[in-house]
Amino acid sequence: MTAIEIAFEEGVLILTLNRPDKKNALSDDMYRVLAEALEEAERDPATRVVMLKGAQGVFTAGNDLSDFAAVAAGGEKPKHAFRFLEALARAEKPIVAAVVGLAVGIGVTVLLHCDLVYVADDARLSTPFVNLALAPEAASSLLLPARIGHARAFAMFALGEPMLGETAARLGIANAALPAAEVEAAALAAAKALSRRPLGSLMATKRLMRDAEAISQVMKREGEIFTERLRTAEAAEAFQAFAQRRAPDFSKLS
Ligand code: COA
Repeated sequence: MTAIEIAFEEGVLILTLNRPDKKNALSDDMYRVLAEALEEAERDPATRVVMLKGAQGVFTAGNDLSDFAAVAAGGEKPKHAFRFLEALARAEKPIVAAVVGLAVGIGVTVLLHCDLVYVADDARLSTPFVNLALAPEAASSLLLPARIGHARAFAMFALGEPMLGETAARLGIANAALPAAEVEAAALAAAKALSRRPLGSLMATKRLMRDAEAISQVMKREGEIFTERLRTAEAAEAFQAFAQRRAPDFSKLS
């Protein structure tokens, strides 16, 4: 079983994160498949809309923390996460997301690049970058404050507290918060409705609403800082603590 399932329905390319034993945490190979699928979706005239969802009641627990721990231990930074983010930021065709259960880290920041987002009212969205001694990524340092205001965005980044789906919808991260069992069908119906709209007009609208170049520049700057942070003693402590199922202790690190 591959960890990304790819399906196609009525002009909608459906990408499903499916690694349930790790809460759909994203490995570098999963990023590679997602990046290739997004790049191909832009080229393929049959694809009019892309939909992202998670399998088995979870969207995603975010980046695979063992990949981060490997970088902290001196390994190479995985290549494909950034390629995926670039493809997402530069995508001209509309992207629809269906979010149930958990969305952590990139599982939330990815939503800031989607055009329609449907969440479960009890979904828990969190961006615990500071708890992991990291920093915001995916242009979220620009896009999240723009969406929900600086104070709320800072609290999400710095305190890592989960936001419920119903709050995310109220604050404009999502279009609607629904009972979990209805989310996927609502997102797919919306994606199919978009696929019946004139694609050139959809793409022009999306282009006008997003400055892809500026977003990409922010991502690059964030990426440099994120990579530096991955190699800090603070981050190593955070990843060890996760692996050892204990709270991190940053008190002796400066
Ligand atoms: N990377 C790698 N493995 C992860 C993971 C991640 N981001 N998130 C969860 N997993 C793994 C757990 O290690 C566990 O694996 P194991 O059964 O082999 O020990 C399995 O998925 C189930 O996770 P568990 O923690 O037991 O589930 P939970 O329901 O109690 O908690 C989370 C779920 C998502 C709240 C918790 O796993 C978590 O905080 N994960 C880290 C999220 C994160 O910080 N992501 C990166 C953001 S930048």
